Amino acid sequence: TAAPLSDGFGRIARDLRLSVTDVCNLRCRYCLPDEQMAWLPREQRLAEDETVRLVTLLARLGVRTVRVTGGEPLVRPRLAPLVARIAAIEGIEELSLTTNGVLLAKHAEALAQAGISRVNVSLDSVDPQRFNELTRRDLLPRVLEGIAAAQAQPGIEQVKLNAVAMRGITEHEALDLVAFARAQDLQLRFIEVMPLDAGHRWRQQDVLSAEELRAIIATRWAVEPLEREPASTATVFRFADGGGEVGFIASVTEPFCADCDRIRLTADGQLRTCLFAHDETDLRGPLRSGADDRELERIVRGAVAGKQWGHEIHRPGFRPPDRPMSAIGG
Ligand code: GTP
Ligand code: 5AD
Ligand code: SF4
Repeated sequence: TAAPLSDGFGRIARDLRLSVTDVCNLRCRYCLPDEQMAWLPREQRLAEDETVRLVTLLARLGVRTVRVTGGEPLVRPRLAPLVARIAAIEGIEELSLTTNGVLLAKHAEALAQAGISRVNVSLDSVDPQRFNELTRRDLLPRVLEGIAAAQAQPGIEQVKLNAVAMRGITEHEALDLVAFARAQDLQLRFIEVMPLDAGHRWRQQDVLSAEELRAIIATRWAVEPLEREPASTATVFRFADGGGEVGFIASVTEPFCADCDRIRLTADGQLRTCLFAHDETDLRGPLRSGADDRELERIVRGAVAGKQWGHEIHRPGFRPPDRPMSAIGG
């Protein structure tokens, strides 16, 4: 077997976040502008066979888990057949999905059968009006149906909710979101908003911290910390009354870069070793010009070896990545 994919800080890449499309059917304010988007041209997107070839190579180099992301992954035509092929790759032990849920009711069954075993649904508010303001689309009912559909699939072991935490907004949504998650038996995680918006408008003061949110939640429910899972994005607490768990992804105030095991492959075949990297490594070009696996392996190893220590959001002169979250893969 091949040596693991390690970087200059001793971290080993075991988790792949695979963006299957940059297209999205929502326009979340912290991610995309409202205007017409210029999505990737068709010829720049990896075809199914190309994606399978690259994931197969990465699995041979030690990648064990794959999370399918976007844009919104469910807008990609024929997603379930792609997922089924990835699930069949030797070495891949777990396949999960991060989605906005809008199309989930329609696709949950096929995706579960194709091999998706965990689903994370983005949900920033359970108030229809507020949801509409935040996403610029009036689709909350569809998302709620999608969540229920995913939970109803026997093959899907866990459904979680992701709520991006924004100052001035999430203070008012948090208790309702938690109440919803508890009632539906879902783990909800609050994510500190990161500078990944297309308009580069993020400001430090927009971040509603995990600590502040925990204090808000503590006004209604007592929580106890659970031990942190290695390489996890979230710090999870359990409700003292047995009402499940709530998590915090404190990307800004308590970065978890030290044990990051993630790499990313964008819909246009670029390998990114960090969400905040400024450079991407082109795999599509070499693939299309006939590179063999040895050549591709050399390129991948070089890219991972050069992985940066972490994000530098707090450093003066910080510059966000050029592409927004929708194109990087959340
Ligand atoms: P689980 O396997 O269920 O824990 O999923 P996950 O938290 O790894 O994935 P998910 O797609 O639900 O991501 C939740 C949030 O974590 C999103 O806002 C991601 O952008 C953020 N996130 C994921 N990976 C990274 C990362 O490498 N760095 C940073 N800073 N944030 C990340
Ligand atoms: N900061 C933090 N999280 C974000 N997401 C999208 N954009 C941002 C941002 N700027 C979240 C989505 C989804 C996950 C993949 O990333 O809401 O839950
Ligand atoms: Fe779409 Fe996700 Fe960006 Fe929202 S955060 S606009 S759901 S890609």
